[in-house]
Amino acid sequence: MIVPQEASTVWDANLYLKFADARMRPAIDLMGRLDPANGARPDHAIYDLGCGAGNISRLLAERFATSRVIGIDSSEEMLAKARSQTADKRVTFAKGDLAAFKPEVPPSILYSNAAYQWLPGHIDLFPGLMKLLPSGGQLAIQMPRNHDAPSHALMRTAAEAGPWRDKLAGIGGLPRVHEPARYYDVLKPLSAELEVWETIYQQVLTGKDPVAQYTASTGLRPFLEALDAAERTAFSDTYARLTAEAYPTRPDGITLFPFRRLFIVARRA
Ligand SMILES: C[S@@+](CC[C@H](N)C(=O)[O-])C[C@H]1O[C@@H](n2cnc3c(N)ncnc32)[C@H](O)[C@@H]1O
Repeated sequence: MIVPQEASTVWDANLYLKFADARMRPAIDLMGRLDPANGARPDHAIYDLGCGAGNISRLLAERFATSRVIGIDSSEEMLAKARSQTADKRVTFAKGDLAAFKPEVPPSILYSNAAYQWLPGHIDLFPGLMKLLPSGGQLAIQMPRNHDAPSHALMRTAAEAGPWRDKLAGIGGLPRVHEPARYYDVLKPLSAELEVWETIYQQVLTGKDPVAQYTASTGLRPFLEALDAAERTAFSDTYARLTAEAYPTRPDGITLFPFRRLFIVARRA
């Protein structure tokens, strides 16, 4: 059984951190495409947009040893966690909505791991982000693009499979992250260099109902938040049973969870 979280509009930082290692890999792969020259621009900062608990902000500060790193997030819970875990004075955190982001310090890099998929219409924000950068500065974004995978399709199946059906009728899961080519087309006119690619990670999960546990802190949240406590338990159990069938546990106790992610790295012309 998934332990249902209390309905809340804030992120569950503890549950999210439980899977921090699996989520770290794409963040680091994205970081690998950043230009050290952008980390060394005086009077500029690297922004970690949708920084969550600050894991990646701290890594950015390690990678760019002289840069100021500013993490932006809308969740007080995440920001409190980030501040409590960060000793490096070069890393600061501020509350902000990515839909209306205005940097206080000029950015040399706008980096974002696994956040913009939560913003409907996020693609329309990307040209504006590019225009905030100096020539040569970089926009680096990673978003999951797993909407058609069983893990997400089964949320919708479970939503239709119980008395909660009407309550969940308007909830389709995450807003869709678009085809890679759409991002390419939107960013190309502003870019000197542009890379768009996808990677499917074979995430290694352990424990009971690991896929349901994994999505409980991300894509499943809008469904859980729409239900009362008893419904959440029953809905969660239905979803956990469906995902356990779709993602069987192997004899070694491991559950492989293939996960597609989209990467964008654009250098401002
Ligand atoms: C999946 S977490 C990723 C956290 C971090 N980037 C990482 O990779 O560990 C997504 C984060 O985006 C934040 N977020 C979602 N929508 C946001 C918005 N409109 N403005 C600011 N932050 C937002 C959430 O609060 C959450 O911390």
